[in-house]
Amino acid sequence: MKFIDLNDKQHRSSDETDEQMAMDILHGLNAHPKYISSKYFYDSRGSEIFADIMNLDEYYLTDCEFEILNSHSDALADLMPDSLSVIEFGAGNGLKTKVLLDAFSNKIKNLEYVPIDISKAALESLEINLADQLKDIRSTAVIGDYFHALSWVGKNRQDVKLILFLGSNIGNFTRERAIFFLRHIWGYSNHGDYLMIGFDLKKDIATLSAAYKDKSGVTTEFNLNLLDRFNRELGANFDRSKFEHHAVYNPIRGAMESYLISTEKQSVSIENIQKTFNFKAYEPIHLEYSYKYLLSDIENLAKETGFEIIQNNFDSKKYFVDSLWQIKKEI
Ligand code: AVI
Repeated sequence: MKFIDLNDKQHRSSDETDEQMAMDILHGLNAHPKYISSKYFYDSRGSEIFADIMNLDEYYLTDCEFEILNSHSDALADLMPDSLSVIEFGAGNGLKTKVLLDAFSNKIKNLEYVPIDISKAALESLEINLADQLKDIRSTAVIGDYFHALSWVGKNRQDVKLILFLGSNIGNFTRERAIFFLRHIWGYSNHGDYLMIGFDLKKDIATLSAAYKDKSGVTTEFNLNLLDRFNRELGANFDRSKFEHHAVYNPIRGAMESYLISTEKQSVSIENIQKTFNFKAYEPIHLEYSYKYLLSDIENLAKETGFEIIQNNFDSKKYFVDSLWQIKKEI
């Protein structure tokens, strides 16, 4: 598989990426309340831990989506044209897409697969996990964040597209950001292109909470790894034993919220930006939203961003939906 790194010299210097991370931390830790973008979870260690989260019993999302793709991939392939580029945002290690690619490669003559992820390590495991499928398909892996990658796709791919945004990745966007991203997809696509989005549906709070605060502590490790990452990459001196992971459902927002909470008054210095940040005892750093949806929210989102819902495919518990949309343009 060919790899294109949108962070490399040709597209953007890696110094610029480090600089961006340093600036984001500077803004986030100066804000009230403090926050850090969840995109920084996915260094190579973070991507490994996320793969472990996906295997947890409590993290029901993975099994639900596997069930959906297992039951519906053949029928989805029948809907698609003979020549198709499957573009996957947030592809991760590719395991959930395996079934879909198997079905598609049997039925679609001219198939291309473009997995996109912010983590190079995740795409390298995807290449291993999908070795059998990739033998018969043209494929290019794109390393980069969603917006840079979208502009790359817009400029480089003209075939009919099926854009995949699975695994509840859309849940990590606020509602406003989700609309912004979907309008970008609309803008870079052609009439008739498809988009399939994995939405985690609203459900009882105990089930949601267990998924984001598992008993074995894998999600806690996922959150604390952020601090280790900043120690490694920005010369910070976070002491992970002085932070606690907290996950809570906010029913007004309709989202799980994840925090690291400073368990005592402390100061943390970050060498790369020559700055010390003070934490009060029990002061939170907000890390992530994981939004949950009602079907009516999904319908409104599609309408507002210029898409038509073609079908909603659910798992048997109706915990999760892969919603297939099509782009409508007037001229
Ligand atoms: C990647 N994303 C959809 C996950 C989620 O469910 O929000 C990230 C995650 N965070 C904690 N557990 C999983």
